[in-house]
Amino acid sequence: MFEKVSHILGLVTEDEILFSTPFDYMFPAAARSRACLLPQSEATVAGLRALADQMADPGGIGDPHADLDSAIPAIYTYFGQFIDHDITARTDRDGSLSQIGRNELPFPIEPDEVVAKLANGRRPQLDLDSVFGEGPALAPGATSQSSVLYDSGFSLKRFVDAPASRRDLARAAGRTAIIPDARNDENLVVSQIQFAFVEFYNKVLAAQGGDPRGAHVRARQLVRWAYQFVVVEDYLKRVCDPYVVADTLANGPRYLGPTAGRASAFMPLEFSTSAFRFGHSMIRPFYKLNATAAEIEVMKLLGPAGQLDPTTNDPVYFAADGHLKAEFVIDWKRFVDPGPNVQHARKIDTRIARGLFSLPLGDRSNDLVLRHLARSNLIRAFNLSVPTGQAVADAFAVTPLTPGEITTGEETAIADVLTANYFDHRTPLWYYLLREAAVQQNGEHLGELGSRIVCETILFFIKSDPNSYLNNRSDPAVKANGIDVDPGAGGTIKNLRNILSFAGVV
Ligand code: HEM
Repeated sequence: MFEKVSHILGLVTEDEILFSTPFDYMFPAAARSRACLLPQSEATVAGLRALADQMADPGGIGDPHADLDSAIPAIYTYFGQFIDHDITARTDRDGSLSQIGRNELPFPIEPDEVVAKLANGRRPQLDLDSVFGEGPALAPGATSQSSVLYDSGFSLKRFVDAPASRRDLARAAGRTAIIPDARNDENLVVSQIQFAFVEFYNKVLAAQGGDPRGAHVRARQLVRWAYQFVVVEDYLKRVCDPYVVADTLANGPRYLGPTAGRASAFMPLEFSTSAFRFGHSMIRPFYKLNATAAEIEVMKLLGPAGQLDPTTNDPVYFAADGHLKAEFVIDWKRFVDPGPNVQHARKIDTRIARGLFSLPLGDRSNDLVLRHLARSNLIRAFNLSVPTGQAVADAFAVTPLTPGEITTGEETAIADVLTANYFDHRTPLWYYLLREAAVQQNGEHLGELGSRIVCETILFFIKSDPNSYLNNRSDPAVKANGIDVDPGAGGTIKNLRNILSFAGVV
């Protein structure tokens, strides 16, 4: 399934995994059947645009609509984004090869062309290539492309001389973060999760003894295992149906890998364009970052790190001393349980924070699809020939939602767009899965089909990777109840809170 290769110039200390995978369809026959797609016409594109525009979350500062909150602590929204950036990239573009899926095309691109042209920009097996790159060169005197991420002692670089309370990522000129995937500096919350993982790895590294190169390899392995354990046992069990997590762990995957007749690994388009974008609906319209800062709208957390305030021309996020302004430092106790002041993610439903309808995009601001996240999600999947929710439910042998379940209880304006475009019978997959979560689980976690696609994909990659914690149960660090990153020092990692604590950021 995964080819083992060495990225460390012949130094035999660890097997590494080949960097990229293609995209393909979990259900290729459905993608190639007109009956399983949205109708191919300009009217469909107009309908998708109209639907997206109706999806705004009514909440805001002063009018919070707390009834739209779920019980999931807010950090899990951005941990989901961090996972997304670790495993999948580029359904929105294909570099210089083509501009696939960039525009609002009235006719979807043929599936064969999509598969041939679109390549996943990340390694999908939850190995934190978004933190480690392909690693430092371990052979003495050699360099690797990722050496820039590390200092001479194999620690990941971080802020220089920042006051303890305002710590941040290492940054280059223009305040560009020195990290492998720029998307992890796209908003302040995911940026500080990336920082927490840098600190986590550095602390685990410091706890290892012996040869520094061997210590790096072991620390990286322990961090990957701890992360994978938390993804499965903490994250998936909160955002998916826990029964589906357990069933897929025990009996899956059903539609990916050799047992399903798919010889090679690929990133499913149903997951990247639609299912895993469910996290967009968990984003709150506003946050309180710490005890002293006022509540802030989500769009004010989204600008590029180097942006300047248009009136004062000063950096928005950074003080004159070059470090994060205190008002933008996240107090994780307000984002992760347990605790009295924890903010919660929005329910998984068809409401999207309004700030995401006009994203600040810097040099990509002319891209009108990309600027409006609900439109991007709907139009990207249409352009890339992703089957409807009903078709994917049939293929997965899950009972589809009825047209009544799609529309009943929705606001009239939304219901009208859905019925006028026949979207209540053929529903765009992303919208369908949000609606399914609302109808089946009151938005507290994904419904059956959403849970199935997310678990199938993520657990397929972890189960298929010979280096994952699931395939290294005999290692003394891999316990039934967590990963021992520093035995004897309170270093058993079971959940995201444990990672933040070990990293020293909460
Ligand atoms: C404030 C937070 C977030 C912002 C501003 C954001 C923004 C974006 C944007 C602009 C895209 C590209 C859209 C396109 O043109 O197709 C995207 C893609 C995506 N997002 Fe988000 N997102 C956020 C949070 C999340 C969360 C919480 C999740 C999941 C839990 C998520 C999952 C994804 C996935 C899976 C993709 C597709 C990646 C690929 O191309 O393979 N995002 N997001």
